[in-house]
Amino acid sequence: MQQNVVSDTSRARSAFEQDVVSGLKQSQKSLPAKYFYDTYGSALFDQICELEEYYPYRTELAMLPSVAQDLSHIVPEPLDVVEYGAGSLVKIRLLLRHMSQIERFIPIDIAGEHLENAADDLRQEFPKVTVEPMAADFTAELNMPGLNGAKRMAFFPGSTIGNFSPQFAQTFLQRVRSSLGPGALLLIGVDTKKSANMLHKAYNDSEGVTRKFNLNILTHINRELDADFDTEYFDHYAFYNPTEGRIEMHLISQKAQTVSIGDQRFYFDSGESIHTENSHKYTPEQFLQLAQGAGWRSVRKWVAGEQLFTVFLLRASED
Ligand code: TRP
Repeated sequence: MQQNVVSDTSRARSAFEQDVVSGLKQSQKSLPAKYFYDTYGSALFDQICELEEYYPYRTELAMLPSVAQDLSHIVPEPLDVVEYGAGSLVKIRLLLRHMSQIERFIPIDIAGEHLENAADDLRQEFPKVTVEPMAADFTAELNMPGLNGAKRMAFFPGSTIGNFSPQFAQTFLQRVRSSLGPGALLLIGVDTKKSANMLHKAYNDSEGVTRKFNLNILTHINRELDADFDTEYFDHYAFYNPTEGRIEMHLISQKAQTVSIGDQRFYFDSGESIHTENSHKYTPEQFLQLAQGAGWRSVRKWVAGEQLFTVFLLRASED
């Protein structure tokens, strides 16, 4: 038993190390965004969501009660909900409050401890719902717990789909469709294209929380992989790239420096960037085209304000 625990941990560590090392060996250095989310990173992310400037979170949250009410008239009973990147389990509460159909809830998140704690609180609040958390990287292919005759709805809020390349977004949506089985539904939140200025502010908040969040990926690497990034000498840089239709987040080296990870060394020029995250923005037409290419058909669309944020209900097309 003990042996298994040790080898699982070292396997996870070596995957982490391989991801980091291969990202830093590219000419445009990059790091996989999933490593933002250690326990502190997950807490910082929750703080980002509280920021006035970060409109996507509060806008989607404000939409969900009426989305849930509409859904309660449309979706079958019983319903299993699978949430990808479930985080602190705030949004599912808004569905659970209005949708008595939901019998089982499977939240998936890479931050296992954070997720288990959140799942315990949720069980207390909704004792009738079976909560089965899965600590996993939801971008990998997953073995979902068996179907029990209930219909399934995937829940993918927060415009996390935008953090994938459009190509991987399509692959991911295809996978969700095949893993959830026939008749599956997908409720997905997607951030829209809008003024570059408003987008810029959302990812460059005045309190510097997004900056801390971005830098925390280096602290996470230092702790887990015996590395020596000096976070004093990297800075947060986020901007809207209108050609790609995405926010890009980078960490910029503030001087020429060398960083060690285990026994490997990486050189950074002054001003050189590590690309840490993208957040693609889609017009409703662009998103629906992408989803259709992955075998989903539009059932309903909700739009906040003047196209500030969109939520779609999709159904797996029969074929
Ligand atoms: N998916 C959301 C977005 O792109 C949340 C998010 C992911 C985020 N990574 C982030 C927000 C980094 C701020 C900074 O907006």
